Amino acid sequence: MARQVPLGVLLSGGGTNLQAIIDAIEARRLDAEIRVVVSNRESAYGLTRAKNHSLATEVLDHKKFTSREAYDEALVALLGARGVELVVLAGFMRLLSPVLVKAYSNRIMNIHPALLPAFPGLHGQKQAVEHGVRFAGCTVHFVNEECDQGPIIVQAVVPAFPDDTEETLAARILKQEHVIYPRAIQLYSEGRLRVEGRRVLIDGLERDDAPALVNPPAKAKT
Ligand code: GRF
Repeated sequence: MARQVPLGVLLSGGGTNLQAIIDAIEARRLDAEIRVVVSNRESAYGLTRAKNHSLATEVLDHKKFTSREAYDEALVALLGARGVELVVLAGFMRLLSPVLVKAYSNRIMNIHPALLPAFPGLHGQKQAVEHGVRFAGCTVHFVNEECDQGPIIVQAVVPAFPDDTEETLAARILKQEHVIYPRAIQLYSEGRLRVEGRRVLIDGLERDDAPALVNPPAKAKT
């Protein structure tokens, strides 16, 4: 049996990405085991999803800590006690301090709802709609000390349309998040990711010369 990489999933909200990871593990598409799901918010629905699958959960309320560093020290201790190797941020609405980033160097992944390095920070989908881009998407990347700027692992592209709202675009992007996050974790689990400078090299990747995407597409005249 393949190695099951021990994960710690951190979230603050609904946890649909957590669900996609759970589903991929249960379908044996992802060689990983979730050791703990941690939330800074007790009310996060993601905790219920975890409990529905008998996963261990912890609430670490940031309001009970005097500094970001103190919070992250508690997180590092908690993750260490559970034997977590890879930290998976799945809608965790907190900036990480160097305490956590250094403890898990190149072992923290995040998913961002935009094609980084475009539209970092909050509300990537809204930024994309307001900017009038023709393509949007999502990015799984390793986390470094600069917000949303770590080495990119996998991206998915979706078209954006003139009548999109933040909500319609976000829904289209979210579907792809659920595809690429388990895939990125599986690449890690297989030991195929190498970080070199700001790039992630993937071992054993077959090059796929897919056709270029154009939006709006040229339509044949009738
Ligand atoms: C997603 O849009 C993700 O890209 C962002 O936070 C959101 C989390 O959604 N980082 P969910 O809680 O996984 O449904």
